[in-house]
Amino acid sequence: SKKLMYAGKAKDIYEAEDDDKVIVIFRDDITAGDGEKKANFQGKGNCNSLISSKLFEVLEENGIPTHYLDLIETGSVLSKKLQMIPLEVIARNIATGSLLKRFPFEKNQKLDPPIIQMDYKNDEYHDPMLNDEITIALGIATQEDLDEIRKITLKINNILSEFLKEKGILLVDFKLEFGKDSEGNIILGDEISPDTCRYWDIKTLETLDKDSFRQGQENVMDIYEQVCAMIVDEKDIE
Ligand code: C5P
Repeated sequence: SKKLMYAGKAKDIYEAEDDDKVIVIFRDDITAGDGEKKANFQGKGNCNSLISSKLFEVLEENGIPTHYLDLIETGSVLSKKLQMIPLEVIARNIATGSLLKRFPFEKNQKLDPPIIQMDYKNDEYHDPMLNDEITIALGIATQEDLDEIRKITLKINNILSEFLKEKGILLVDFKLEFGKDSEGNIILGDEISPDTCRYWDIKTLETLDKDSFRQGQENVMDIYEQVCAMIVDEKDIE
């Protein structure tokens, strides 16, 4: 009965009872390559809602301000309403993916310090890579915002890399999105899931994320369920 505010590629955002909150529904849709490749895997939304909620809880426990409030039920998350900043903030610990297509890095080269890359979240322009001057000139964010976003992203990388390592997962790279609350504070929004990260099995370096779908593997849902079981406490999986 709630009003749909926004439909993304894999999530819907509904109004909540309180004006400063929203309900995020994780759908089973999956897309790759700028939305060119599409599919629907039953249970994917539920998996991602559990994984994302767990990772946001870990971040909150470690002092990162996020939009996460509560997992209402599997698949649906109560979150703070944010004014989203149209940036895809990517952190990379290992050179793979689009980085190898664009620059002469060695495949799987360790990136220490990690690389932070900001892309403009804009389908029409195919999410081009930004620099600070372009971002500021476009009015997307201020220099102070960008400095703060970089600082928080590096902290998040440390916290999640450590947490996932204990679960047997290597955090290769990931994408974050930030917004501002009504007081202008920069808050982590969106999701952190196998749709938005590269996770590799720490021992075998096997893909445990959306690359399985990008590469056309048959066992995408098995992989998502495996990651869910690795990250989320058993008692929290219905
Ligand atoms: O494709 P690329 O190598 O640039 O992706 C880097 C990381 O950002 C990957 O973990 C990927 O899943 C994530 N990403 C994303 N949404 C995008 C682009 C990248 O979640 N639109």
